[in-house]
Amino acid sequence: MNTQARFVFLASFLLFIPRPGLRAESGRPIPRVERTGSQYRFLVDGQPFLMLGGQAHNSSASTARDLEAFWKSLVGIHGNTAEVPLYWELIEPEPGRFDFHLVDEIIAGARRNGLRLVFLWFATWKNGVMDYTPEWVKRDRAKYKHVVGALGEEMWIISPLCQAARDADAHAFAAVMQHIRSIDESDRTVIMVQVENETGLAGTDRDYSEEATRLYSGAVPAELMAHLGKTRDSLSASLKAAWAGSNYRASGTWTEVFGDLAPEAFSAWHVARYVDAVAAAGKQAYPLPFYVNNWLVEGGEVRAGNWPSGGPTVHVLDIWKAAAAHIDVLAPDIYYPKFFDVAVQYTRPDNPLFVPETNSVPYFAANALLTFAYFNGFGFSPFGIDSFVENGTVTPAAAEFEDLYRVLRPLLPLIARYQYTGKLHALLQGIAQGEDWAYAVRLSNQLAASVEFTGKYDPEKERGRGLIIELGPDDFVVAGARFKVNFRELEGPPRDAKFLTLEEGTFEGERWVPSRRLNGDELHVELPEQSKILRARLRQ
Ligand code: DGJ
Repeated sequence: MNTQARFVFLASFLLFIPRPGLRAESGRPIPRVERTGSQYRFLVDGQPFLMLGGQAHNSSASTARDLEAFWKSLVGIHGNTAEVPLYWELIEPEPGRFDFHLVDEIIAGARRNGLRLVFLWFATWKNGVMDYTPEWVKRDRAKYKHVVGALGEEMWIISPLCQAARDADAHAFAAVMQHIRSIDESDRTVIMVQVENETGLAGTDRDYSEEATRLYSGAVPAELMAHLGKTRDSLSASLKAAWAGSNYRASGTWTEVFGDLAPEAFSAWHVARYVDAVAAAGKQAYPLPFYVNNWLVEGGEVRAGNWPSGGPTVHVLDIWKAAAAHIDVLAPDIYYPKFFDVAVQYTRPDNPLFVPETNSVPYFAANALLTFAYFNGFGFSPFGIDSFVENGTVTPAAAEFEDLYRVLRPLLPLIARYQYTGKLHALLQGIAQGEDWAYAVRLSNQLAASVEFTGKYDPEKERGRGLIIELGPDDFVVAGARFKVNFRELEGPPRDAKFLTLEEGTFEGERWVPSRRLNGDELHVELPEQSKILRARLRQ
């Protein structure tokens, strides 16, 4: 072969080497989290995607049969994304022997039901302990070292300093990602993966083993100090306060730099480094977006260890950002009524909001609107929804999720397009002043929407909720249930704006498909008990 022929041969060969991140044969680009300044979009098939999710109970995915109720429930409430665990203990029952039949069956189940899939890798950590590690890890305490508690007791947690465990977990996770790639690269059913579950050390503020104590008495790594130095103005309030206590020392031991926050900061650094190594191995095999979920700092709890110490709590989000570059999103599991306050903490220029777990009681459903329409988040998912549908019927407990997801589903492309524009408004009873029954949304200098909730406020039950999308200065989509809207003119005599048209309907993509024209006695923007979508065009 002459030089030119050799070059052509080599070039054509190189063109066909599959590279991560490139389009698969089907042409569907790999899902990714795209950042533009401080705005985020989760792209699936190249388009912004919002996850109307549901998570299966912890033990629902050890047989495909047990998942049937979950699929029916999620489809029954009009969800589009299933969150389903994968268990290290079942995937690698003996070191190096992998069994992927569950991965295959779960992907097939999601496809059969027209759902996208988020896998949850339950491995070294699950709720701050090591229950999902394989037997061979649990038995070999000499090799797979445990955290030592403050009194010298062995704890039921793998030490974040244990390299053998980290490497074993990373090896298994990479094998799982490689397998997913091999069967799903052209379909992209799997769109995101949770690495571990609620990481951190449950029951102790740090590892008190000899090795950990030696490191704890040493200097905070320069890499972490450099990150904190660069991001000092935007650090979370608790980390900033802790560091301010040392007058922003640029170096020193953990206690010298972080004072009382030192044990949690130390644990966060080491847990995040461990998780990042696992994630890095997974990304190498198949670079889907990854996230970690978090057990929140609960009201009334004062000391790390009451919540798993070292998980990405609001105290240490910045340490996770410094330590875990292979994790795309730090995500809160929000089970408390103060959904809004937590969402504020996790929505940052360096982190978009994704709520992978939330309470499945009716009152929480409305928080999907906050997630998408207020916080510009891209995912929302109630936990443990397997019995939302029974004998083919949506249960009363699930009716609120079903009603809201039904009305949101056709609106998702539009909502995604209007995120970050200021033209998308979430309306929630019980968000502004707790028991609010009315409030106004300013739409322009000329116009405000006066919102009045029509149902009784009861934090135990469903509530008035919906959204307004400003398609134009005189063109509005209003959707949801249990409220009325009056469009008030802000200039001239105090009066309501006049309608050109008011229609019920739905959207196909971004195209409005009207059904009923409202006029005469029905010329009111009134959203009843069952959600609907209205479009109001006003005379300017
Ligand atoms: C949070 C965990 O991440 C879930 O797996 C599950 O254990 C729930 N808590 C239970 O409320």
